[in-house]
Amino acid sequence: MSTTFQLDTSTSRATPTPAPMKRLTVPKIRARKQDGVTAEPIVMLTAYTARQAQLLDAACDLLLVGDSLGQVIYGLPSTIPVTLEMMANHAAAVVRGSYHAAVIVDMPFGSYEQSPQQAFESAAYLLKASGAAAVKLEGGAAMAETVSFLNTRGIPVMGHVGLTPQAVNVLGGYMARGRSEAEADKIVSDAVALDEAGAFAVVVEGVVEPIAIAATRAVSCPTIGIGASAHCDGQVLVTEDMLGMFERVPRFVKRYEDIASTIQGAAEKYAEEVRTRAFPGPDQTYQPRD
Ligand code: KIV
Repeated sequence: MSTTFQLDTSTSRATPTPAPMKRLTVPKIRARKQDGVTAEPIVMLTAYTARQAQLLDAACDLLLVGDSLGQVIYGLPSTIPVTLEMMANHAAAVVRGSYHAAVIVDMPFGSYEQSPQQAFESAAYLLKASGAAAVKLEGGAAMAETVSFLNTRGIPVMGHVGLTPQAVNVLGGYMARGRSEAEADKIVSDAVALDEAGAFAVVVEGVVEPIAIAATRAVSCPTIGIGASAHCDGQVLVTEDMLGMFERVPRFVKRYEDIASTIQGAAEKYAEEVRTRAFPGPDQTYQPRD
């Protein structure tokens, strides 16, 4: 069915018919967890482009424009070199391609850690440039003041604890966190600090399962797990990982497709047809009209 627009001449607003699905809001996502219980788990996937957003939108509650785009889209060695401009451009594309899921945009390394004021400037730029609903930043108790500063100034924040990829140079790699008691306690107390500072949700990444369960019980806001536990209040995966775009499959990823083979197969078939002049055929060529 095609969309038509009714112009209201008094306001110059065009109203689309049929009305698009209403976009989920951050307060609605936050309210999914009531008194420690999330009856309907939160579905989040990463998205970096408008077309990807269009395809994922209806199935998801949240679309995350993750700084993982550094590796996935740009072939960078880590998320460290990702810039605010890269995030703003991809987030704007994802907002344009979606109408239902709330869009969350990652704050890249170096754009928020210095001070709450620096974080506000960066987050305000990201939201103005993209139309996204909220930002995500990495770090626990050290970021609590910043989370509260942003939240009380109109910028909802999703936290991120456990394996925090922007800290790869401190952590020394991407292995699961929380194998010592001290580290386990720190991850749970980081999640609590973010919750108390007003984070509307907290990503718990790459931790041994009891930590994810303890953090989920300890915080009032929803936890979103990745390499964590089915007991989290929601789950996130990098879309390209779950589609099978890469040879390397982290242990916590479930592959729902083998899209890399589909793409390679199509490219090989196309190349063969170009080389044998089977493509373009009569259906793909224009002839003069009689
Ligand atoms: O950047 C990202 O994609 C993320 C998710 C994996 C949580 O932070």
